[in-house]
Amino acid sequence: MKLNQRVICSLLFFLGWSVPSLLFADPGKALFKEKHCALCHNVNNPGTVFAPACPGLKGVRHRHSKEWVRKWLKDPSAVWAGNDADVRDINARYFRYRGSRPKPRESFMATIIGKKVVLTDEEIEVLIDYLWKL
Ligand code: HEC
Repeated sequence: MKLNQRVICSLLFFLGWSVPSLLFADPGKALFKEKHCALCHNVNNPGTVFAPACPGLKGVRHRHSKEWVRKWLKDPSAVWAGNDADVRDINARYFRYRGSRPKPRESFMATIIGKKVVLTDEEIEVLIDYLWKL
């Protein structure tokens, strides 16, 4: 009886712990790590902080449209070359953080994403859902 109670207790404890974490685990958060985004980006920093060289991603939904982020994650190199208003804004923030005037530079993100790490359309949607909560 005693042993059974203990077994039941630990089973309930295990379920109580694992079921919510399975139900509420964020697939976007896991993908953000798995696809190496977390190596460069700090999600707790605002986009005005480029530490060490990459913008913080807090509030990123206020800086770009979903459509733009979709293109950016697919092919940052092409988007950067287009030098649109969003790209110019990132570049201005980058140099402001360093206390200097904006000038042309290469995209750092494009050295990896779109080359070494290629994301599927589904993965991009999952990442965008995650980014939109930051
Ligand atoms: C090699 C480092 C690196 C990796 C890996 C990386 N990024 Fe970036 N990211 C940057 C840099 C640097 C910028 C600023 C533009 C540039 O120089 O490329 C940027 C810009 C962004 C922006 C725009 C942010 C803003 O404030 O306007 C988003 C969104 C973003 N990255 C998402 C991601 C996601 C999602 C991943 C993973 C799939 C990722 N990044 C992987 C370095 C990286």
